[in-house]
Amino acid sequence: MKITVIGIGNIGGTIAQRLAAAGHEVSVASSRGGEKLIEFAQRISARPVDVQDAADDAEAVILSVPTEAMPDVAAKLRGRIPPTIAIVDSSNYVPGLRDREIPELEHGAVESEWISNLFGHRVIKAFNSINYRSLQGKNASPGTPGRIALPVAGDDADQKRLVMGLVDLVGFDPVDGGMLADSWHQQPGTPAYTTDLGKEQVQARLSLANPAQTLAWREEKRHTGFPGQR
Ligand SMILES: NC(=O)c1ccc[n+]([C@@H]2O[C@H](COP(=O)([O-])OP(=O)(O)OC[C@H]3O[C@@H](n4cnc5c(N)ncnc54)[C@H](OP(=O)(O)O)[C@@H]3O)[C@@H](O)[C@H]2O)c1
Repeated sequence: MKITVIGIGNIGGTIAQRLAAAGHEVSVASSRGGEKLIEFAQRISARPVDVQDAADDAEAVILSVPTEAMPDVAAKLRGRIPPTIAIVDSSNYVPGLRDREIPELEHGAVESEWISNLFGHRVIKAFNSINYRSLQGKNASPGTPGRIALPVAGDDADQKRLVMGLVDLVGFDPVDGGMLADSWHQQPGTPAYTTDLGKEQVQARLSLANPAQTLAWREEKRHTGFPGQR
């Protein structure tokens, strides 16, 4: 399958490397491009591309950039996203720390719905609910006891199935997280978020989510930041 990953940091870099190792035709794009992107692409056997060309010829595009960068990426891809392509959003909104404040999200918009509107395209939310250290070090083969599960939410059943297959290839059990409007159940601060739990537990915890948990998480991060960060 032809897949482009935009953003080659902690999350996108790991996903791109695993998908290329699994035999997919992976392209990668980043903000600065240049030597760093070329070297990374060579190392994982991928193809470096410009953001504006990211959707050309791809069956899926995985967005692994900060939420505040989404308007820039959407503007560069405007008019160049075929309707059938799966757009995957791995982002989490972290205002005052990773992201500038975004009024729509401050007023309660579901993060991936806001991103879907920006792109004018259906979006599948996946890979956002795991910390990068676990993404990098706790992947496991299907059937491994204790394999970590990740929710996948979105409206297009075929695209969701495709993305659930990618989650499996990256090393995790996919769990159906419902429609995109339900994707707040896997946003930061909710009971299934960054807990490294298995399928049944993630399914049970998705149903315990409430929107106040994400608001409280954002407020906490504004004051405390992430561990190890000054
Ligand atoms: N870190 C985590 O534990 C974690 C967990 C789950 C989800 N997430 C979410 O996943 C996303 C990526 O996080 P990360 O930790 O991987 O971030 P990161 O390590 O800082 O990497 C961000 C990547 O995005 C690229 N980028 C930034 N602005 C861009 C733009 N305008 N156009 C194209 N590329 C752009 C950067 O390009 P350059 O290399 O050129 O700067 C970099 O490759 C974020 O939304 C984050 O909230 C993070």
